Amino acid sequence: MSITRAYSITSEAVAKERERTGGDTSQVDITKVLTLDTLTLPELGPNDVKLKILAASAEHNIDHAATADTIDITKVRGGKMYPGNSAVGEVIEIGSLVKRFKVGEIVATHCNGEPDQYGYPLRIWAYDQPDSIGWYSEEAVVGEWQIVHVPLHCGLSLWEMAALPLRAPTAYHLWRRALGIYRLKVSTERRAVLNVLSFGGGVGELFVMLAKSEGHNVYFCSGNPERRAALEEIGITAIDQQAFNRFKSKDDIKAFSKKCKDLTGGENMHVVCDMLRGPVFDAGLAVAARQGVNVSSGWQLSQVVSYNSTVQSVKQVTIDHMHYETIEGCQAATELYGRVFKPTIHKEIYSFEDLPRCMQELHDNTQTGIPIIRIAKELPPAVKTLSMAPPKGF
Ligand SMILES: NC(=O)c1ccc[n+]([C@@H]2O[C@H](COP(=O)([O-])OP(=O)(O)OC[C@H]3O[C@@H](n4cnc5c(N)ncnc54)[C@H](OP(=O)(O)O)[C@@H]3O)[C@@H](O)[C@H]2O)c1
Repeated sequence: MSITRAYSITSEAVAKERERTGGDTSQVDITKVLTLDTLTLPELGPNDVKLKILAASAEHNIDHAATADTIDITKVRGGKMYPGNSAVGEVIEIGSLVKRFKVGEIVATHCNGEPDQYGYPLRIWAYDQPDSIGWYSEEAVVGEWQIVHVPLHCGLSLWEMAALPLRAPTAYHLWRRALGIYRLKVSTERRAVLNVLSFGGGVGELFVMLAKSEGHNVYFCSGNPERRAALEEIGITAIDQQAFNRFKSKDDIKAFSKKCKDLTGGENMHVVCDMLRGPVFDAGLAVAARQGVNVSSGWQLSQVVSYNSTVQSVKQVTIDHMHYETIEGCQAATELYGRVFKPTIHKEIYSFEDLPRCMQELHDNTQTGIPIIRIAKELPPAVKTLSMAPPKGF
């Protein structure tokens, strides 16, 4: 039995912060909730793989867990959870029946915790999947089915690859769903090039990268100037969300609609990806073109939306909901690292000990791109050179 350092969240810590802040989740101090702990790793089973975790990205579901702004998932999980469901690691040991992986290989985790009969996740690993242990840890034991090979020489740095295991499959699923739904209504023959819009965030930027790679007109509406500049650099039209006050009023949405009409020659957006809901949902729906599709798997700003069914019926707009990706979809998305997915990463690579501060800065929305945490002090030779490539913009 081996013991590793790992981050955990307890429901006592969540409750204490809730009491201190009077229930204002925006004021929660994440560094008081997410704490460095130890974890006894399970014995390696015949179908298991032991990983040395090299790097991970900060994911928003940890924010949801720490603030309990949607549900108090730590309480649901029995009072304690080990978060972290996106990581890149080195295989350091394999079980006797493992065939697909060898010691020394570099892999990414996926977080489809339990596929349904069609392969889609019923639950997410290290979030709502019972008994699942996350990967904000120095070592981990995972089932062979939970990891995929990464294309090491895809042109991305180790840090950029670490940005992708959760966000890229999500973007991949959102795009294939949105496009599939749109094509059910409008054939390529009738409309080959689509206007595609997404809003700020890691998933949003990867979504427009996919659409761009297939030749569509793409727009990224974000409040973050560094992010917009990075996306402009790769040919994605950026829209400043702050110029529309993050859609606080009806007039802001009206002004945003005018901007989108101007950008698209009056046609508006055929596909919109909205991971945030709240005011962003209203803005996205307002700029939907006829036969448009609005897709989301996020509810960062609100879990509940409302819309005028008559207006959407007349415009024939489809609002779709999805959740992460199938395991096959995760593998397909991983093949696109570097070819399509070129994530914008935050300028600081956080140390393992600084992970709580990284999560706090994610919560405060002060980062310039996807935040990455370096977990292993010593990197294996296979990724040593890949760890030297500087983040974009440096
Ligand atoms: N169900 C699933 O399968 C699934 C998968 C992945 C993610 N998600 C969820 O989807 C959401 C987004 O994920 P992500 O990975 O893209 O997150 P992320 O990289 O952390 O991005 C979140 C973005 O939200 C934007 N934002 C923050 N405060 C805002 C506000 N008040 N108004 C408008 N925009 C605001 C920021 O964009 P700008 O400042 O640039 O505008 C920020 O970059 C999260 O809630 C996450 O948990 C769900």
